[in-house]
Amino acid sequence: MPETATRTVHSATPATASDAAVVARDAAVRVGGRTIWQGVNLAIPRGSFTAILGPNGAGKSTLLKAVLGLQALAAGEIAALGRPPGNGNRRVGYLPQRRSFDASLRIRGVDIVRLGLDGSRWGVPLPRLGRFSTRHEREAQRRVAELIELVDSTAYATRPIGQLSGGEQQRLLIAQALARQPELLLLDEPLESLDITNQGAIAALIQAICRDQHVTVLMVAHDVNPIVSYLDQVIYIARGSVVTGAVEQVITTETLSRLYATRIEVLRASDGRLVVVGEPSGAFDAGGHGAHATR
Ligand SMILES: Nc1ncnc2c1ncn2[C@@H]1O[C@H](COP(=O)(O)OP(=O)(O)OP(=O)(O)O)[C@@H](O)[C@H]1O
Ligand SMILES: [Mg+2]
Repeated sequence: MPETATRTVHSATPATASDAAVVARDAAVRVGGRTIWQGVNLAIPRGSFTAILGPNGAGKSTLLKAVLGLQALAAGEIAALGRPPGNGNRRVGYLPQRRSFDASLRIRGVDIVRLGLDGSRWGVPLPRLGRFSTRHEREAQRRVAELIELVDSTAYATRPIGQLSGGEQQRLLIAQALARQPELLLLDEPLESLDITNQGAIAALIQAICRDQHVTVLMVAHDVNPIVSYLDQVIYIARGSVVTGAVEQVITTETLSRLYATRIEVLRASDGRLVVVGEPSGAFDAGGHGAHATR
């Protein structure tokens, strides 16, 4: 994908803007007079798979919204695909948190995926009328089928979406987000309603998409253990602080214990996988729920 940005970022972050899909410099967000996080410096390499982790209310969704330009910064800067957030959003895909379909909804999985395709930047614009329409319709159907195959949903894609399980719905929503062929894909808890096996399966799928289609993915997740082996980078948010870097750099007993201000152990399983033990999953109740870092 061509990168035309010439802006350079003199930053304390390990990578430079030219090879990064998302760059933040000293970014801070305040909501309702409260600092959610601050001093955020990061550089997300293009084509990488990064998880955003942290307890409820830490500001994970807020970070995605800041990258999208839906949440203004109180300080610092963020660039997405070399531009200020909100520009060139056609190249950015977003799956918001907590989507659910009413059980009575009759629209089928294939239609949900097709919605992502229509009006997208995929291929030549689809003419509504004329002699090309049949060919384009066939092409669109082929593409929808390909996406459904990619997320392994062929078996249930023609059933009403409202009757599918949470995990089946999530796969189809990921296919919909991919239909637009985004360069940057922001997924807010796409693994939320999945069992552990399926969390790993979807993470593997997303990793393959990053590799094969050179899409950069930022994904909010709650539990790192089922997905850690598929990730390139992690962004941990807790107590108003953000720690980011390669998996092996950040997921250590020292770093996580310091960030969470409690004992977190990082072990290595017999197959070499990292396992985090004691990571708080709920919101912090004292002294730090999304507040300033106290250190
Ligand atoms: N519009 C708003 N007005 C006031 N506070 C807000 C607003 N939006 C978010 N917040 C607060 O900002 C903090 C961060 O919210 P955010 O949704 O980013 O958390 P999160 O890490 O995504 O949490 P969860 O894991 O529960 O999804 C929370 O304390 C939330 O209550
Ligand atoms: Mg959230």
